[in-house]
Amino acid sequence: MPAAENTRTDDQSCRSILNALEGKGELLVVDKPVSAKFDVSAMLSLADHRAAVRFDKIEGSDIRLFGNLLTSRERIAMALGVSVDQIQKTLTDAVRNPIKPEIIDNAPVQEVVVRENVLAGLPVPHFFQRETGPYISAGMIIAKDPETGLGNASYARLKVLNENEAMIGIAPNHHLAIMARKAAAMGKPLPFAVVLGAHPAIQLAACLYLGLGDDEMENAGALLGAPVRMAKTVSSDLLVPAEAEVVLEGLIHSDRPLVEGPVSEYHGMYEDYGSGLICTFQARTNRADAMFQVIEPGYHAEHIFIAAVPIAASLKAQLSRALQNVGDVAVTATGSGRNDVIVQLKDPRPGQARRAMAICWGAVSIIKNVTIIDADVDPWDLAAVELAKMTRMRAERDVLIISDLPADRSEAQEDGGVVAKIGYDATMKAGDRSQGYDKALPPEDAYARMRSLLSTIRPDLLP
Ligand SMILES: Cc1cc2nc3c(=O)[nH]c(=O)nc-3n(C[C@H](O)[C@H](O)[C@H](O)COP(=O)(O)O)c2cc1C
Repeated sequence: MPAAENTRTDDQSCRSILNALEGKGELLVVDKPVSAKFDVSAMLSLADHRAAVRFDKIEGSDIRLFGNLLTSRERIAMALGVSVDQIQKTLTDAVRNPIKPEIIDNAPVQEVVVRENVLAGLPVPHFFQRETGPYISAGMIIAKDPETGLGNASYARLKVLNENEAMIGIAPNHHLAIMARKAAAMGKPLPFAVVLGAHPAIQLAACLYLGLGDDEMENAGALLGAPVRMAKTVSSDLLVPAEAEVVLEGLIHSDRPLVEGPVSEYHGMYEDYGSGLICTFQARTNRADAMFQVIEPGYHAEHIFIAAVPIAASLKAQLSRALQNVGDVAVTATGSGRNDVIVQLKDPRPGQARRAMAICWGAVSIIKNVTIIDADVDPWDLAAVELAKMTRMRAERDVLIISDLPADRSEAQEDGGVVAKIGYDATMKAGDRSQGYDKALPPEDAYARMRSLLSTIRPDLLP
């Protein structure tokens, strides 16, 4: 494994990682004027996993824009200041050992305060052909449970309607939606804040799947190795990361539905979810030289990996509560970073593979396929997982299909709220293959000799 590229500093903004990417030649700077309508999206889509992009001139806006930040596990490792193979442990440790935030004054994200026409002048992109307006796609949403006062951070899209209103699209089972309904039952709207451009560790924490009332900002502190420095919002009593780029302060009106129209999903197709909720904004704060963050939605690398890695770690934490032999857990890119899970089990006992499948389906409704592999197979290496399925599985014995389990509404084949889920037990079973599973390879001393020879004649070919 490559050594950790330690970009962890005391900085809690997204700027140190952007600078590091620029230093590595992985930041494309577009200084020619481009339109927020489709052009930003097309460029981010072209650069996708190849480069982060900063746009210095968006027509009609004074605010710079950046996107394609966390487009791979390598980028996520860089953001967390660990090596790729330490990402999962870092996240599960952060779930177990939260650190409470600290409140500060004079927050950089409050250098500018706007109280009228809050959304005016923001470079909000219109992403895809059939979508019906511009979307804020990288908005980390902060809210508090109106009954318990406990905090929540998550992501949800906002379609901008005019200078003071947007529509928010939240799945009804998400904690944010539950909080908005609780507020509506009390006869009030839910105060919320939309945070753009927080430190990537804070963004990743917001994508963890935790219990209702578990505040992801405390896990973000654990990831940063220090309390998240937070500022009180200027129009409510919420706390927001003080070193983010832009914060929009508003209210979600659960009693004001609005038909959304077609919207892209992570699987790369359009969905029609019916109505979202109207939200109104009473303040915007931002840095004096703020940058507006964008996550290219649909089937694009950042949209996949920012979800896949925290979901995998959340599942690892859940599985480890019930099973002592769980290794690494992966959520694949081909499953759009949400639908397809690979779980490593060390020497599973009979029946354990199916138990692990059941835990995954029970824990996160968006998960459809679950594959269980042995500890010698890398769950993030799809070719290795496929090889294990080809060589260690007997379909009639090792494939489990359960029909009519609850489906997430984003599920591509969802029908009447349910979908069939499939589990593949690709672990070795006692009694299979009298020839065993030994890998056919040259002996280790021959490898050592040839490695040494290769290092003198073609070191670039060394694995
Ligand atoms: C970039 C990104 C965009 C997302 N957009 C939405 C969205 O528009 N609506 C939604 O319901 N969930 C969306 N999600 C998923 C939720 O943020 C995720 O399920 C989260 O865990 C829900 O948290 P909660 O249950 O604490 O509210 C998005 C996730 C990511 C990473």
